[in-house]
Amino acid sequence: MKRFVIVALALMALMSCAESGQKKIVSFDDVISMRRSIRDFDASKSVSKAEVRAVIAAAQEAPSWTNSQPSRYYVAMSPGKVQAVREVIGDRNKRNTEGASALIVSTFVRGLSGFRRGGEPANEVGEGWGAYDNGLSDAHLVLAARAMGFDTLIMGARDADALRSIFDIPEEETIMAVIALGYRASDPERPFRKPLDEILKFF
Ligand SMILES: Cc1cc2nc3c(=O)[nH]c(=O)nc-3n(C[C@H](O)[C@H](O)[C@H](O)COP(=O)(O)O)c2cc1C
Repeated sequence: MKRFVIVALALMALMSCAESGQKKIVSFDDVISMRRSIRDFDASKSVSKAEVRAVIAAAQEAPSWTNSQPSRYYVAMSPGKVQAVREVIGDRNKRNTEGASALIVSTFVRGLSGFRRGGEPANEVGEGWGAYDNGLSDAHLVLAARAMGFDTLIMGARDADALRSIFDIPEEETIMAVIALGYRASDPERPFRKPLDEILKFF
């Protein structure tokens, strides 16, 4: 009887995965190898607000300088806001984000990561550590999204001033990427990677 209940529950979980169109991700290797920059989103499927919250919660688990957590996220989900953002990311990105459920703007608060209590920079990298932490958060975000069956496109080509006014982003935040979130409509090729020994040196 107990075994029957367990099998029934597993079948129900698999069915709900199939219904929502989510791929079942079984390992971290799958997450890494299946994450790709997607430029062809399926407009017939949408990511919910609760699911976006789960993705951002994963981004929040990223490490940061003295746990200063400088990353901030602004999410466009209403058709009007999504369209407004698509107008300020350039023609190519606009085309490639058609059908995405959400456009997520990632920023970091300056003066936190890489700075001492007194406000002086801890070393020569300065505000670069804020960008570093924001990149780590975004990496968590895109990998968590893939693990949940979603797809992403990180975009650095965007008009920061326009985004600041669309979301009323405070001046003390530096605007980094816009990240499209949705479901892929097709599988892209894996882009070329340099030979490992070109980027790695052991001593
Ligand atoms: C900081 C950053 C900025 C990017 N900006 C854009 C962009 O504006 N438009 C775009 O189509 N792709 C953009 N990309 C995606 C890269 O082109 C992509 O990650 C790279 O070609 C490797 O492909 P993959 O992500 O599928 O592995 C960006 C990626 C990063 C990390």
